[in-house]
Amino acid sequence: MNIDRGVAQAYLLGQLAKADGAEKGFGREMMEHAFELFQGGNEMFGCRVVRLDCRDALMHYYESFGFVFIGKNRKSDLNQMIAII
Ligand SMILES: CC(C)(COP(=O)(O)OP(=O)(O)OC[C@H]1O[C@@H](n2cnc3c(N)ncnc32)[C@H](O)[C@@H]1OP(=O)(O)O)[C@@H](O)C(=O)NCCC(=O)NCCS
Repeated sequence: MNIDRGVAQAYLLGQLAKADGAEKGFGREMMEHAFELFQGGNEMFGCRVVRLDCRDALMHYYESFGFVFIGKNRKSDLNQMIAII
């Protein structure tokens, strides 16, 4: 996991969003594509952690992709979640 001085390098999954009118499930397709890219990164340079911040309402959605809650952010308004690839 490349942990150095208490810091684990991670891919940041940020600003995931689909356009208004995009069909239901398009977000899932984007997530699958993102994980393919992360897997390519893992093969090239070894990083296995993916992280994101999300609102309470989306925690179950991300859990369905294998993310787990690790704590609140500094402002305590978002949930920090990670997945290991
Ligand atoms: C997140 C997103 C990309 C997921 O796209 P998707 O995989 O196509 O999934 P859907 O939008 O059909 O939602 C799937 C499930 O996620 C959950 N979900 C999505 N948006 C939600 C919201 N605003 N509040 C609560 N639950 C939500 C629901 O469980 C939903 O299932 P349901 O429609 O059967 O209730 C899309 O909802 C989106 O663009 N949202 C707006 C931007 C956003 O909030 N991004 C998250 C940043 S962390």
